[in-house]
Amino acid sequence: MSKITAPSVRSSKVRNGSDPLVMVTAYDAPSARMADEAGVDLILVGDSVAMVVLGYDDTLQVTVDDLVHHTAAVARAKPGPFVVSDLPWMSYHLGVDDTVRNAARLIRAGAQAVKLEGGRKRVRHIEAIADAEIPVMGHLGLTPQSMHQMGGFKVQGKTSEAALALVADAKAIVAAGCFSIVLEGVPDAVAKMITDSVDVPTIGIGAGADCDGQVLVFHDVLGIEDRVAPKFVRRYASLKADGVAGLTAFAADVRTRAFPSEAETYHLSSSEADALQLYGGGKLSS
Ligand code: KIV
Repeated sequence: MSKITAPSVRSSKVRNGSDPLVMVTAYDAPSARMADEAGVDLILVGDSVAMVVLGYDDTLQVTVDDLVHHTAAVARAKPGPFVVSDLPWMSYHLGVDDTVRNAARLIRAGAQAVKLEGGRKRVRHIEAIADAEIPVMGHLGLTPQSMHQMGGFKVQGKTSEAALALVADAKAIVAAGCFSIVLEGVPDAVAKMITDSVDVPTIGIGAGADCDGQVLVFHDVLGIEDRVAPKFVRRYASLKADGVAGLTAFAADVRTRAFPSEAETYHLSSSEADALQLYGGGKLSS
């Protein structure tokens, strides 16, 4: 397979004959290796790490330091897929210099591109990042970093006015330099309208089948997270259930002394065992 790059992603439009892009989140070396071996196109070191790994209720709690830490862990696996890292909340809201410095930290940690949320009001930040030669992915629709403004994790673009605003946002961020756009939590007709309006690929999550690719969160797609199942998630494995079953069997084996077995145990040579016996005996008798 040829190496995936920002330009190759940028030109991956289904309407031009490309296969849909496959993106999955990963936050550490083992998950990056799994994504690599599965042959996905892109790995997203998402700020969803806050919720699925770090136990927070929303994504607002993670910092650039957190994303640098997880990006570096993914990069150490040297995965084949193209690695995109999320700029977390407040890392691109204070000014363009600060934004570019934060984007550069993610690149130095091993990302090949960064992602940020928002439409027209993010244009100058996107331009500044692109001017620093860093590929930028946009993220429109249900943008979890705006959860308080949106009144929760709610599907966006449900009125014609809101849908047209999203189309305008998409055109603006592409003109500013985005090489692709994540569309999250929007009706399929709106996702299609956006996909048809831009010449960069859209990657959907809860945005229907007409996007140029699909992304799911690692812990959702593999069933590590089994508490909430949003409508758009399809589980392809039950790793939480498999893990609990495995740990239950381990606990039972320890308690019944079925673990460890002879084969799982290191033994001294018989001469060293004899010598130790003598030494122990000497000490005991003194
Ligand atoms: O952080 C994340 O996992 C994301 C995806 C939902 C696209 O941004």
